Amino acid sequence: MIKELQEQVHTLIEKALEDIKQASSSQELQDLRVNYTGKKGELTKISKKMKDLDKEEKPQLGQFINQFHTKFNEAFDLKQKQIAQEELQAQLAKETIDVTLPGRIQSQGVRHILTQTREELEDLFLGMGYQIIEGPEVELDTYNFERMNLPRNHPARDMQDTFYISEEVLLRTHTSPVQARTLEQHNFEKDGPLKMVSPGKVFRRDTDDATHSHQFHQMEGLVVAPRITLADLKGTLLQFAKAFFGEEREIRLRPSFFSFTEPSVEVDVSCFKCGGEGCSICKQTGWIEVLGAGIVHPNVLEMSGVDAERYSGFAFGVGIDRVAMLKYNIDDIRHFYQNDLRFLNQFKGGQN
Ligand code: DAH
Repeated sequence: MIKELQEQVHTLIEKALEDIKQASSSQELQDLRVNYTGKKGELTKISKKMKDLDKEEKPQLGQFINQFHTKFNEAFDLKQKQIAQEELQAQLAKETIDVTLPGRIQSQGVRHILTQTREELEDLFLGMGYQIIEGPEVELDTYNFERMNLPRNHPARDMQDTFYISEEVLLRTHTSPVQARTLEQHNFEKDGPLKMVSPGKVFRRDTDDATHSHQFHQMEGLVVAPRITLADLKGTLLQFAKAFFGEEREIRLRPSFFSFTEPSVEVDVSCFKCGGEGCSICKQTGWIEVLGAGIVHPNVLEMSGVDAERYSGFAFGVGIDRVAMLKYNIDDIRHFYQNDLRFLNQFKGGQN
């Protein structure tokens, strides 16, 4: 019986070594170990017969079994290293990076040109010592009209029809109501002179065309202190025109009417295209209208609790869309609101 068993172990060794040689993955190799030496493995089956052997025969079979283990492990370890090496090579080959391939381009967003323009205007006035104050887009009739010296049924209201949420609540038609909101908060005794700008969205009932939009942007300016005059207004706006449109610009004031200023003016800037000669941009006049302004009406000051005997001020309202269109030669206001990337991507300059 011992001979037979020794023979069986011998054959098993041959078979196992051959199987190991043939194995092509580490998984296959692990399976072989289980099949040969595991609990129900072939070698284990033979070992179980040990108990039926004579006392002196047992070590003889034991020797063979040890030999099996030695040879099996030796072949196993060798093969395992070989397979690990092959698998690593295969993985490296699969994951090779072709460094000559072109990279993936990340497309970077652009701040909207109206945002860029608003910030440029804000910076300009911050530099002159103004503070920036924002007001609500949904506004009360009181602030939007009455406190701007436009009582109910005043005909000038017709020019600024808007969306009414109720009798009293509307979408503001201009940034001017922020004047009243700021004046009533400002403590002149404590805070000194008031200098503020207020940018934001405004709304009007309008038929949209190349120069009109039912929604656009303005920036209000307001300076109130003792003895403010039209000369202060003119000096300030000249600074603005030069900084925004170019050092060579001049300005001119024309009489106009706004209910909240007296006197009121329209402000023209000398044409930056032709320098005043006359061209298609300035309609041959040499001048381009950019904003409305004036000396704050005493009623506006008084209605907001400011003593018009002691204080005077100037105010102005710039159309942000309008000056952006002029500066960047944009021919249609609707471009701002259509989100066409071909338009928006043209304004990559001035990013920070
Ligand atoms: N609120 C005026 C408008 O929307 C613009 C304006 C004109 C504002 C004169 C002012 C000003 O502050 O003084 O047409």
